[in-house]
Amino acid sequence: MTMRKVLIIGIGAGNPDYMTVQAINALNQADVIFIPDKGEEKEDLRRLRLEICERYIKHKTHRLVGYVTPERSKDPSDYRANVRDWHARIERQHETLLTRELGEGQCGAFLVWGDPTLYDSTLRIIEAIHSGGVCAFDYEIIPGITSVQALAARHRVPLNRIGEPVHITTGRKLAEGFPEGADSVVVMLDGEQAFKKIDGAKLDIYWGAYLGTADEKLVSGRLADVAADIEAVRARARADKGWIMDTYLLRRSEAK
Ligand SMILES: C[S@@+](CC[C@H](N)C(=O)[O-])C[C@H]1O[C@@H](n2cnc3c(N)ncnc32)[C@H](O)[C@@H]1O
Repeated sequence: MTMRKVLIIGIGAGNPDYMTVQAINALNQADVIFIPDKGEEKEDLRRLRLEICERYIKHKTHRLVGYVTPERSKDPSDYRANVRDWHARIERQHETLLTRELGEGQCGAFLVWGDPTLYDSTLRIIEAIHSGGVCAFDYEIIPGITSVQALAARHRVPLNRIGEPVHITTGRKLAEGFPEGADSVVVMLDGEQAFKKIDGAKLDIYWGAYLGTADEKLVSGRLADVAADIEAVRARARADKGWIMDTYLLRRSEAK
């Protein structure tokens, strides 16, 4: 009896051209492709996944299986417990999907935005189901182009200065202060525009939204000078589209 196989495929963060040859080959191995439906505001992301399948899958014998991702509770009191509970619900759902939709020896694929190892829980969820042992399968991860790489490329800026480190964090963490001793800090998952809480006199910012897509927005400059512009561009774009995804690099300004 051959085992089921699960592929966790990084599809790049926005542009279908970010798909690597390895990701395309993996996609073509899948009998079933799981497509999350995160509600209306993320309809654009769903469309991009479908476009990727349409454009790159040659055999057309695959099945697309949609599923509605469980919502996270809005209760802000215990962030970690909240996320744990949310992940447990997603885990049960994914386990059901794998046992119900994949026959023995079949291959299923999850298409993960950007790269599956950066701020994404698919890998942790699949690992947990795998070690739970209810459904036997093997799994593999195919790396993808992250929004961090897309940001740096579009701004034509190296992520690190020579010999210096890069710190990747979230808006929630940045709100506690610019990391001590850091030189270059990439901020993701920032729903509160934490850059406004940081002293911008000695920092440069390279900001990007909807990177790799037709709606891409880029702003860069001394943080103190452009923070208000970014806020305005972000608010307008968010109102127009109903959702936003943005990432930025903060870097200590070079002494002139
Ligand atoms: C849940 S994380 C997923 C990250 C993803 N795995 C990656 O490799 O980029 C979502 C965050 O990634 C960033 N992000 C993802 N795609 C983006 C894009 N096209 N433009 C700007 N930021 C993006 C945003 O900071 C967003 O809040």
